[in-house]
Amino acid sequence: MLKNKKILLGITGSIAAYKIILLVRMLMKENAEIKIIMTPAATQFVSPLVLSTLIQDKVAIDFFSENTWANHVMLGRWADVFIIAPLSVNTLSKMANGQCDNLLLATYLSATCPVLVAPGMDEDMWHHAATRKNIETLKSYGNHILTVQKGFLASGLQGEGRMEEPENILLYLKENFFRGNQLQGKKVLITAGPTYEAIDPVRFIGNHSSGKMGFALADAFYEQGAEVTLVSGPVHLGKSYRGIQLISLHSANEMYNACMDIFEEMDIAVMCAAVADFQPETVSKEKLKKKDQGLELTLIQTQDILKSLGALKKPNQFLVGFALETENENKNALQKLVSKNADMIVLNSLRDKGAGFGTDTNAVTILDKSGNETTLPLETKKEIAQKIIQIIIQKAHA
Ligand code: CTP
Repeated sequence: MLKNKKILLGITGSIAAYKIILLVRMLMKENAEIKIIMTPAATQFVSPLVLSTLIQDKVAIDFFSENTWANHVMLGRWADVFIIAPLSVNTLSKMANGQCDNLLLATYLSATCPVLVAPGMDEDMWHHAATRKNIETLKSYGNHILTVQKGFLASGLQGEGRMEEPENILLYLKENFFRGNQLQGKKVLITAGPTYEAIDPVRFIGNHSSGKMGFALADAFYEQGAEVTLVSGPVHLGKSYRGIQLISLHSANEMYNACMDIFEEMDIAVMCAAVADFQPETVSKEKLKKKDQGLELTLIQTQDILKSLGALKKPNQFLVGFALETENENKNALQKLVSKNADMIVLNSLRDKGAGFGTDTNAVTILDKSGNETTLPLETKKEIAQKIIQIIIQKAHA
């Protein structure tokens, strides 16, 4: 998402400056292009040598060095986003008042790109009326302000003032400046994970689904600007983006109700969950006791969510199913596509090595109503998800 994006990083004199090394590493992993400016005070907290070694470029500190003039105007114009982190109380005050006594401030004043700041200071400074006023002034300039965090401060005190963690700065960057717009304004429902069907208060019937494919799809849709609702059974995953609406639940019945409640307003729905086909007819209120003769359970069918949505689907809605097969894969998947009235079905075969439950990779075949077949060979679930949504975009508009 940040590949080849131009990130200008401004570092000021606050103890949190040492954490910026981590942010730089994260940005590099994302293949962003990075340039760094530091205030003279920042060099007391973190070594320009470390930073320039990491980005394999000079770190800009002075207006004039080696008989050349640092072109602050071009730096500000080069960047897609200018992040100032940590933002010290001193630089905040100067930014609010338009002061220009170092290269970072000159670049700020001439920057034409969005500016994101992550303040980091002592709690009492943070709460001072002058700081509050300066923060409001920066907001009024249209700058993006990250809120400070509570916790251990360099002064030895506990309280508000910690700079936002580097991973959250990265997240803010992605969510607010670099989402694609292919699905802007579209509402997408995704189901993910297994469902657990209770037998008694401590036991359930479940399956091995990890939810990774559904969560990867939620990310890929969100990254293309969609409004995403992710309905998930029990998984060990958290959502990647704050803006994804996650509805966590347990049973097939709960998943059915959640999907039926919101399907009408959706443009696209992708049923990726491994929904249990059966649930115990009755759920024991008390824990079942061991008996000599074993235990017989009567199972009844759960509601088929994909099929129910297929029956309600309007012409402007695009419905995608998944099919997990172990034999006669294409034939069975096509049958599901037709019987559940989906527009497209993504076939997973447990016979493919590296594909299916729990893995970080997948290989799928995509089938549509017209009999078209697209094979996506083994790749990470993230990459497969991105390709699936490109196919959905094409087919939904066809
Ligand atoms: N599905 C669903 N609700 C169910 C069962 C399945 O929405 N109660 C959806 C799955 O999310 C998937 C598709 O139906 O998108 C196919 O699921 P799969 O388990 O492969 O097929 P089933 O219809 O359950 O049939 P079978 O298990 O007999 O292969």
